[in-house]
Amino acid sequence: MDEERIINPMLENGTEERLENSLRPNNLEEYIGQDKVKENMKIYIEAAKKRNEALDHVLLYGPPGLGKTTLSNIISNEMNSKIKITSGPAIEKAGDLAAILTSLSEFDVLFIDEIHRLSKNVEEILYPALEDYTLDIVIGKGPSAKSIRIDLPKFTLIGATTKAGALTTPLRDRFGIIHRLELYSIKDLTTIIKRSSKILEVQIDEEAAKEIAMRSRGTPRIANRLLKRVRDYALVLGDGNINLKIAKHALNQLEIDELGLDEIDRKLLETMIVQYNGRAVGIEALAATIGEEIDTIEDVYEPYLIQIGFIARTLRGRMVLKPAYEHLGYEYLES
Ligand code: ADE
Repeated sequence: MDEERIINPMLENGTEERLENSLRPNNLEEYIGQDKVKENMKIYIEAAKKRNEALDHVLLYGPPGLGKTTLSNIISNEMNSKIKITSGPAIEKAGDLAAILTSLSEFDVLFIDEIHRLSKNVEEILYPALEDYTLDIVIGKGPSAKSIRIDLPKFTLIGATTKAGALTTPLRDRFGIIHRLELYSIKDLTTIIKRSSKILEVQIDEEAAKEIAMRSRGTPRIANRLLKRVRDYALVLGDGNINLKIAKHALNQLEIDELGLDEIDRKLLETMIVQYNGRAVGIEALAATIGEEIDTIEDVYEPYLIQIGFIARTLRGRMVLKPAYEHLGYEYLES
């Protein structure tokens, strides 16, 4: 993969990171799930190639771990171009972005993770770069300051965010292609786990793969992480092969329940049921009570709990719903 990681180069040497990379699909054909995004991207990529143009700028949003970075790597592979990877908070000054932009080649992909965290100064440099592939920079200070315009190569920006709502309107409007990544179905996650097992050279039964899938909260990154841990249990306690029994044992040891809920999910739900008596709770109060960041609750925990119908967002705050009471063994009183 022709990838240049601008931020955090240390990560690339880590075993976990290398393993994670080895499990990542390299082209759209290998990429499982997100069918709508895949079908659309295939057309846009083919059209851009036929016209010999850069692909229009792409915004990918949705919960973490659903493959925004993976998909960006795939897009650059399919475009036969290079990718440079950075993130909103890593680009501190306008000059940092100018340096990145001038280092790009024609049709390259620039991937900016957490794009909602770009500073205002940096964002303003980005507008003409996205619109006309030009860079306006000011040289010097005071009366002798001069503004110069530099032409940039035609490139594709891929922005990723967990918070599409936090993007400014002018930035959002400059993306020609906007896709929301959805949580994965059990069926797709099972297929991903079987594919990953093959790459890791471990035998896995169909039911075992499905069991891991059911506890992966709709998220491939979690599925692959759980698979690696289950594989450890299978090697130490069994013959190295993963069957349903060893998978269940390992997942129970990890304190991941049948729906993939962990300690923090349970704490969150129990707080809503016991402390707030099932009434609507504001996210700030909830975060303070359980000692988690608001962002973490909103981006990591809530999407799955909403998806499985355990909580709802209402105008008055978050509400805990009947299935959550039943799952945690609390009596639900109809009001
Ligand atoms: N590994 C992680 N995400 C994947 C996906 N969507 N398809 C195939 N393998 C994956």
